[in-house]
Amino acid sequence: MLADKRILLIIGGGIAAYKSLELIRLLRKAGAAVTPVLTKAGAEFVTPLSVSALAGEKVYTQLFDLTDEAEMGHIQLSRLADLLVVAPATADLMAKMAQGRADDLASTLLLATDTPVLVAPAMNVRMWQHPATQRNIKALQGDGVRFIGPDEGEMACGEYGPGRMAEPAAILDAIQRALTAGPLVGKHVLVTSGPTHEPIDPVRYIANRSSGAQGTAIAAALRDLGARVTFVTGPATVPPPQGVQVVRVETARAMLAAVEAALPADAAVMAAAVADWRVAEESQSKIKKVAGAALPVLSFAENPDILKTVAQSLTHRPRLVVGFAAETDDVLAHAQAKLARKGCDWIVANDVSPETGIMGGAENAVTLISAAGSEAWPRLPKDEVARRLAQRIAAALG
Ligand code: CTP
Repeated sequence: MLADKRILLIIGGGIAAYKSLELIRLLRKAGAAVTPVLTKAGAEFVTPLSVSALAGEKVYTQLFDLTDEAEMGHIQLSRLADLLVVAPATADLMAKMAQGRADDLASTLLLATDTPVLVAPAMNVRMWQHPATQRNIKALQGDGVRFIGPDEGEMACGEYGPGRMAEPAAILDAIQRALTAGPLVGKHVLVTSGPTHEPIDPVRYIANRSSGAQGTAIAAALRDLGARVTFVTGPATVPPPQGVQVVRVETARAMLAAVEAALPADAAVMAAAVADWRVAEESQSKIKKVAGAALPVLSFAENPDILKTVAQSLTHRPRLVVGFAAETDDVLAHAQAKLARKGCDWIVANDVSPETGIMGGAENAVTLISAAGSEAWPRLPKDEVARRLAQRIAAALG
């Protein structure tokens, strides 16, 4: 699978460095050659001996190592690789990359290269969430650096949240994707997915039956064609795909804010089932059942229309804006009206009447509507609908 490929693997200083040993094993099993580079901090967690033994190659550690320079200059070292992988990437190493600093071998290689770079971050959840780290990530993404992970879960430091390094098998998949030149390489696509939850009080909310399955499949299909995907998801029942930037939100208003923060994008696919209305005044304390009192009455306020806002943006409209229309009757007529009303380029319309089993199911039967007309696709697995749509998007973005 990776025969004839050379990966330059930079192992940063984090407890997750032990997983990089497994990554080296998987890479070699897949046929890749691995040039390992160990940072000073990385060497506190794994030994140069175990790294070079698994890689079957010399491990590089020092910027000013005369023997290494005589054998191979650090500039050539990075250019000989097909891909540079940083795993684990610490907050500090990412900050250096974002600033273009070069004060050790790893950061110098990263600055000296014109080879694609894949980063697998690993750090404490607070460090990951810190605005400085998030700023650096945005800067690196803008430079074309790809990310895999981090995962969410229990951390070595005892805290819980995003920050765990992606598993070696997931990093291997991301490496394979990065080395397969897809038609969407260099493109940024924004996908919304899942339902929104609109709070009534601190314990109750209004939701809908969207599972997020179709949006998740679309994000994965776009990723597989090489796109950088920002995946803004409400509380869905299916987990988000690997290898995309996941932004979790609950309400329609939070989804709009996340979407606006993720722009600019080359294309936007709005697959989320956004609640049209929210409870006008969310109660700050739990609404109590009082014997003999009148039943509570909820009044509603209109939520922002995210698709319309993006499609009609004068400054940040993606070149291609795709909306969805989930209807229960007059599917085509409603969807065509929606295309005009929202100002998007395409509408993916589907019939979500309960008897179709589409909402929450594994299949979908959609009609793709654009100014050019409408095209009914056969009933297909949601993954296949996603693949076809991603191909269409790639063709449209040319
Ligand atoms: N959408 C959105 N923001 C909203 C409502 C909908 O971005 N507040 C998007 C959905 O993600 C979808 C499309 O708009 O891509 C269609 O959503 P839908 O709720 O079906 O359309 P509505 O405009 O609400 O029309 P109606 O309620 O009449 O069906």
